[in-house]
Amino acid sequence: MAAGVCFLILVGLAVLALGLIMNHYLPLFSKHSLLPRGTFGWPHPSNSVGHFLQDHCSRYGRVFKSHLFFSPTVVSCDQELNYFILQNEDKLFQCSYPKPIHGILGNKSMLVAVGDTHKRLRNVALSLVNTIKANPDFLDDIDTTAIQVLCSWKDKRQVIFCEEARKVLGLGPDDVQAREILKDFLTFMRGLISLPLYIPGTPYARAVKARSRISSTVRAIMQERRRVSVENSKKKNDFLDTLLRVDTLSEDEKVSFALDSLLGGYETTSLLMAMVVHFLGQSPSALQEMKEEHQEIRGMKQKDEYLNWEDFKKMNFTQNVVNEALRFGNIVKFVHRKALKDIKFKDYSIPCGWKVLPIFSAVHLDPSLHANALQFHPRRWETQDQACKKFTPFGGGSRCCPGSELAKVEVAFFLHHLVQNFRWSTNDGDHPIAYPYIEFHKGLVLDVESKLV
Ligand code: HEM
Repeated sequence: MAAGVCFLILVGLAVLALGLIMNHYLPLFSKHSLLPRGTFGWPHPSNSVGHFLQDHCSRYGRVFKSHLFFSPTVVSCDQELNYFILQNEDKLFQCSYPKPIHGILGNKSMLVAVGDTHKRLRNVALSLVNTIKANPDFLDDIDTTAIQVLCSWKDKRQVIFCEEARKVLGLGPDDVQAREILKDFLTFMRGLISLPLYIPGTPYARAVKARSRISSTVRAIMQERRRVSVENSKKKNDFLDTLLRVDTLSEDEKVSFALDSLLGGYETTSLLMAMVVHFLGQSPSALQEMKEEHQEIRGMKQKDEYLNWEDFKKMNFTQNVVNEALRFGNIVKFVHRKALKDIKFKDYSIPCGWKVLPIFSAVHLDPSLHANALQFHPRRWETQDQACKKFTPFGGGSRCCPGSELAKVEVAFFLHHLVQNFRWSTNDGDHPIAYPYIEFHKGLVLDVESKLV
């Protein structure tokens, strides 16, 4: 009897293995003779893709096929194809994150939603962003928090910048709930790039758990906010209050929405801040030019007057620096799509159902598109329009990032106070480690010297 069961298990495993191998290699023999050239490979550890991309592009060209995230995949490092993919969302291509990512994000997440559900959630996101932008308290809050964080550096000689950047974005260290979210959040981010096996103790399983803890915390914060606003009948008009008032979303969708914004906006924006500070630390001439720009803007204002949108518009060089950090730093290296039909583009054909990865970082660092592509050179943006096919740090088309302006103004306002009040230097060896989740090894340690009295 026991031998019979063992035999059945063995047969089952053999069939499973054969299935996996067939699934892996069969598409290679498909009828699509014009498939981009290349060979299939087993899934790669995510931190080797830098080398992987370089190697594959030089061997097979800018568009090649591979087998990634357990799917046959067309990888595109071609600006035209990337643009074509982004512009044809829901027509020829569709957002398609690996299934296990849905397990972490939840099925109400806008980041994975498609079709009508996505449209409905996106409309809410756009109107929320507009409400926030139109609220002067939002800009004053950014300004105040930036000043507070920098004042706390006054007597310090060293800071771990990534931690400070997160404080600037509003999750203070003294707030227990916020600290909990932050801890879970990092677990959550690491899970997103880990191997999706739900075995207790794996990063993936920890991330799924972290997600459910974060959503309970967010739910509790929302309930508390509702209670307080009923008691005080006072509206704060910030992101959370505005979200609570939306009547086209269920409670679960609101929780999911708050999580999407945290995931989409929080770590990305603090990383952008860290990138700018890191690159400026190595580029004295850019730093000097930036200081002059901010001194001039400050010179036209009262001593403690808050910054506003008009000031932001005057920060031309700062915006060039931020764009260059986005190009050079590549916070989001690529996005996930799948082909909805058999597609022909230039000489390539992409079979229906295949995964498609437009790689933004490869285009951003392509020396044939950006002169001295491997140098941090903010002035290139003086003559280069940022709305172009070769620069897509926020994606494009109907899924283009709704928070891009918010992120830029947060970073610019923080820099306004930083460059005027501090000198800093970065430590050797603390570089951003890329792919796909970027981290500074030691959290970007800065030696700082205050000019504040
Ligand atoms: C430097 C900062 C940021 C970067 C580099 C960034 C990048 C991106 C990219 C590349 C996408 C497209 C994803 C895709 O096509 O699949 C995206 C989408 C999104 N981002 Fe951002 N983002 C940033 C800041 C923000 C902020 C501050 C928020 C929220 C306030 C935000 C919320 C979102 C949301 C909700 C989406 C999904 C949009 C959709 O599917 O229609 N992001 N972001």
